[in-house]
Amino acid sequence: MATIQPAVQAGKEINIPTGIVFVEGPVKADVLANLSINQKLTNFRAPERQYESMIIVANLPEGMVYIARYGNEIVGYILFHYPSQYSRWNKHPRILELGAIEVSQDYKRHGIGTSLLKVAFENPVMEEFVVITTEFFWHWDLKNSGLDVMSYQRMLNKLFSVVDFRKRRTDDPDILEHPANMLMVRFGSMVSKAYVNAFEELIYQNSLVE
Ligand SMILES: CC(C)(COP(=O)(O)OP(=O)(O)OC[C@H]1O[C@@H](n2cnc3c(N)ncnc32)[C@H](O)[C@@H]1OP(=O)(O)O)[C@@H](O)C(=O)NCCC(=O)NCCS
Repeated sequence: MATIQPAVQAGKEINIPTGIVFVEGPVKADVLANLSINQKLTNFRAPERQYESMIIVANLPEGMVYIARYGNEIVGYILFHYPSQYSRWNKHPRILELGAIEVSQDYKRHGIGTSLLKVAFENPVMEEFVVITTEFFWHWDLKNSGLDVMSYQRMLNKLFSVVDFRKRRTDDPDILEHPANMLMVRFGSMVSKAYVNAFEELIYQNSLVE
């Protein structure tokens, strides 16, 4: 797979009642190493472990980490990397996975999640990739969001559609495991027809019927 050359850092400022949150990236590992992690970034794993994962992703040749920063604290992030070598998606030569997006409980509903997506997809390199997100409901914040599982799915569908992700049906067993799980896909504008077709061939592998 190709090594990604991220564009120069992009950013956006968001005014919240207590100050300004900076949404920026791609952020290098040495920059992350000088920041702290908000202790309410607990959705996927303990904050310190998630912080370690972010540094690992930032050190990958293709890895991209964008952060929402309040002072020296990371209060949100979005990560991109190649799909796991064990997944069907990894067979595609020009694919990236949106690994996670999270905003701390204290900073939600200020447009930070939307801005993380917008800033990340302002990077022209994204136009050269098929970007996927495999959404599993067991990763969602049903406890604090006030949303039931299908409403949460609709919320994410709307959120990701801001940067042109579209929900796709697939026979990926992990997606089929629960009706709320979903695959969302974004085709970069520079992705060739051959790579689009190669992706379409991966969508259904276990059956002939959609
Ligand atoms: C999903 C998530 C990143 C959104 O972050 P955010 O900064 O709150 O998102 P935004 O403020 O940009 O919200 C965009 C829109 O999504 C919808 N939305 C977000 N959270 C919502 C909620 N709890 N209830 C209803 N609508 C909601 C709203 O339409 C909102 O726009 P509005 O506030 O103008 O009404 C955040 O809720 C989160 O970290 N969740 C836990 C992790 C997760 O589920 N990640 C996705 C799977 S990888």
